[in-house]
Amino acid sequence: MKYIIGNWKAHKTISQAKEWLETFKSQLDTDSSILDKLQSGKVTIIFCPPFHLLYLFENIVKTVPNFHLGVQNVSTQDEGSYTGEVTAKSLTGFAKYAIIGHSERRRFFHENNEDIKNKIDQCHKNGIQSILCIRGEHDSIFPEANFVAYEPQEAIGTGDNAPLDVVLNVKSHLNLPASVKFIYGGSVNTKNVQEYLSHDQIDGVLPGTASLDPHEFFSLIKHIT
Ligand code: PGA
Repeated sequence: MKYIIGNWKAHKTISQAKEWLETFKSQLDTDSSILDKLQSGKVTIIFCPPFHLLYLFENIVKTVPNFHLGVQNVSTQDEGSYTGEVTAKSLTGFAKYAIIGHSERRRFFHENNEDIKNKIDQCHKNGIQSILCIRGEHDSIFPEANFVAYEPQEAIGTGDNAPLDVVLNVKSHLNLPASVKFIYGGSVNTKNVQEYLSHDQIDGVLPGTASLDPHEFFSLIKHIT
């Protein structure tokens, strides 16, 4: 089983998201190869749009096997008077996964280890699987994280993906328990996806840019053999 975790970041309006979904669905209808991969359990898609677009994915999640929803962040808080926050508790039964500690959150919103730990705990408490993003070996790993995504900052959005041997070397220093899935993210595209996924030490990829265009995202999954 390989995981494809799409991260839209802060992109797309409601109408743009609807357009993406229509195109993606019509591709699924005309080319059964992706559906076969999803149905056979070879591939699982975890799609992480911004919060305001999650509801648009309700139908695709219900009708397409192994297509799940994730979020890009959760609150450190349980629930209560925290204006503007989205809690893990409020997402139960809808989003099954959450990206936590993405380098953009650490960099632009000053998320620290305590915040990240609290967010992972909130996910764990509410049955949401956390995808902890780390920038390198120096970032802390928290025992409750279900996935660890290695995303070197210099590879994000630059087209300069990290070579496979570097990714494997980082993983070898993390000493992850076998139950934790290891993901690579940073300029994953149709040309390099298979190289990562053909390795048994890598459980999935986390494409950002390549998830924004439905044709490209479809083609990315098609390239997994
Ligand atoms: P990218 O983004 O695929 O555009 O490099 C990946 C990410 O930041 O998660």
